[in-house]
Amino acid sequence: MKFTLNVDHVAVLRNARAEDNPDPVTFALMAELYGIDGIVVHLREDRRHINERDVRLLREQLKTKLDLEMAAVKEIVDIACDVQPDLVTLVPEKRQELTTEGGLNVIDNIDLIRDTIDQLHDSDIPVSLFVEPDVTQIDAASEISADLIEIHTGIYANAKNEEDAFDELERIRQAAKHAKKLGLGVNAGHGLNYLNMKEFMVIEDVDEVSIGQAVIARSVFVGLEQALKEMAALINRK
Ligand code: PXP
Repeated sequence: MKFTLNVDHVAVLRNARAEDNPDPVTFALMAELYGIDGIVVHLREDRRHINERDVRLLREQLKTKLDLEMAAVKEIVDIACDVQPDLVTLVPEKRQELTTEGGLNVIDNIDLIRDTIDQLHDSDIPVSLFVEPDVTQIDAASEISADLIEIHTGIYANAKNEEDAFDELERIRQAAKHAKKLGLGVNAGHGLNYLNMKEFMVIEDVDEVSIGQAVIARSVFVGLEQALKEMAALINRK
């Protein structure tokens, strides 16, 4: 299973003092030196962390891959077509949320999401849809020619007890298997950490996990190299 690092929280820290340190681009390049498979950033409409300069510099400097998370809104889609990330992951975005709160409702927003996928495909950019582990949403993603899905793992990560966590893992397992049968690539992410990753590894059909908060927080204490090494050991990367 591959492992990509979301560096949005480094930009949160930088922006807290309106200065230029710590730079999420430098952080991402260091993560590459330590063996990460790719970098994820979310360019939000309100630019609360990552900004356009970060995205353009990452595009120029990264040697692995750049996964640009974004809402299906024209301004950001146009930036993506210009910047040409290796992958766009479409997510729902609300102004008031602290972080992405759940998967896209592909079924209810099918025309908008299809048009966005078509525009990105016209620029040769593969598209992933961030969805709940729900086969009806995954079928809709496949119908409108998404290349991949990213399964929302937040409900698993925030489960109140072992039974709920087990049930949600089973839902994720079935959803990943279903997506693979449809020929979709399968990523997963949100809330994955050093404690819940071990159980998560029972799921076979996930190609890649995208992790931010847990690794950035741990790197404050033990340094980025060590934080990445510990997570990579849990993910058991091939
Ligand atoms: N995947 C998506 C679509 C996200 O929005 C986020 C959070 O930015 C992540 C993965 C990573 O989540 P976390 O920071 O909880 O690891």
